[in-house]
Amino acid sequence: MDDGTSQVESIVGAGWSGGIDAALADRATAALEAGSVLRLPLPFVLEPGETRIVRDHVLAGHRKNVSLGPRAQNVKGAVEDAGLRRVLASACGRYQRQTAELAQRLFPAYLAALEIGRTSFRPAEVAGRVQQSPRKDDTRLHIDAFPATPVHGRRVLRFFTNVNPDGVARHWQVGEPFEQLAATFLPRVPRYSMAVALALAALRVTKSVRSEYDHCMRHIHDIMKCDTAYQRAAARQDVHFAAGETWIVFSDQVVHAVLSGRCMFEQTIYLPVTAQRFPVRSPLRVLERLTGRALA
Ligand code: SIN
Ligand code: FE
Repeated sequence: MDDGTSQVESIVGAGWSGGIDAALADRATAALEAGSVLRLPLPFVLEPGETRIVRDHVLAGHRKNVSLGPRAQNVKGAVEDAGLRRVLASACGRYQRQTAELAQRLFPAYLAALEIGRTSFRPAEVAGRVQQSPRKDDTRLHIDAFPATPVHGRRVLRFFTNVNPDGVARHWQVGEPFEQLAATFLPRVPRYSMAVALALAALRVTKSVRSEYDHCMRHIHDIMKCDTAYQRAAARQDVHFAAGETWIVFSDQVVHAVLSGRCMFEQTIYLPVTAQRFPVRSPLRVLERLTGRALA
């Protein structure tokens, strides 16, 4: 990649429903797997009864977002207001269904393998937020690797839609290709211990036993966020996602940071590496090449 950062690929002609040209789907899948951010002019329109979620105070305590599990009826992270919670659940549920349908049509190669994860609504302004710890600070360049939810090598595919009511863009930065990142940070990852992984699961720190892949990814996430020299100097490209735009990324692969913006929906979808067209580009295969052994 010319400037040393991930690319942004414009995808026009894909809606929440209707046909998608096979050539477009092909280009989208190839770009996604190459580590590009797909950008679509595709708004998520709130129904008249739902617009209060972008105006009212919806977050409980110090929560950053409201979320809905893939089979859940109720949202987490919202204030105690039954009416508001119903509206949040219905908007998140619709976002979940629409993104799942779009994923099936835009990436037909993945069809049977897509596993729907959580949906979130992120109403809070990112800029100026008090950060409790660098590891939780998403204004720093990072890859997504969940502390409590091991993925065992599966890909993290994320859909985002900016629903800012004042037409304000969400400001992201995207960084270097994963292969480059991994070569820099993998040597700094501490040795994996199965005994520690079992203990973390027994203590319910993790929801299942962390694989060596999850261990490496989480440590790369933490080490890069805490490396102030890297954060200052790493190559990056600013990307502004307008209100009414949707973007799709493998967020375990694309180095990213969010600098500002409020009101966005996000959908997480998991995908086995073997369902990819080019599994060699996956973080799992890249890390396995570098370590010379199976990691998940
Ligand atoms: C992240 O995954 O880093 C957060 C993205 C965002 O909230 O825009
Ligand atoms: Fe992230």
